[in-house]
Amino acid sequence: MNIRKIHIRIEEYEETGQLKKEDQSLILKAREALKGSYAPYSEFHVGAAVLLENGEIILGSNQENAAYPSGLCAERVAIFHAKSKYPDVKVKAIAITSAADHFVTTTPVTPCGACRQVIAETENRQNEKIRIIMKGQEGIVQAVEGIENLLPLVFQEEKLKKASHK
Ligand code: THU
Repeated sequence: MNIRKIHIRIEEYEETGQLKKEDQSLILKAREALKGSYAPYSEFHVGAAVLLENGEIILGSNQENAAYPSGLCAERVAIFHAKSKYPDVKVKAIAITSAADHFVTTTPVTPCGACRQVIAETENRQNEKIRIIMKGQEGIVQAVEGIENLLPLVFQEEKLKKASHK
């Protein structure tokens, strides 16, 4: 048996002011996106802001449903909107933040598994990594350069193909 260790790299910042300006303004946009959240069931609001390489920022927020699985996370709302509006424009970064109705969120909101898979697909499609910036209402900011840091051993397109030597 072999043990394989996988390293992931997460940047942590005590203050938003320690981040570069581009990241700071994307976090502000994610906060703005919270206004569009529809979360009467979880009472947990998530906002996401996608920065495209053409400079445009697309917002998304979680949209819940009485039939719970029919709802969608903020990250996928934002990414799917961005890619349907600009199929050929690359995604440079996504900032995600949260707010709850009955408490203050003090840890960064990290994307769920399904959203990580969608971010992975977007990276593969554009052959370029996406910066992911995560923050709660208060507390530290975390950021990663590429989904491999949140989703090691990702299932991706090449796994659908037979090995080339066969
Ligand atoms: N949610 C998101 O929108 N993004 C995340 O990264 C985590 C969870 C939403 C889904 C649901 O509307 C609510 O937060 C509670 O899970």
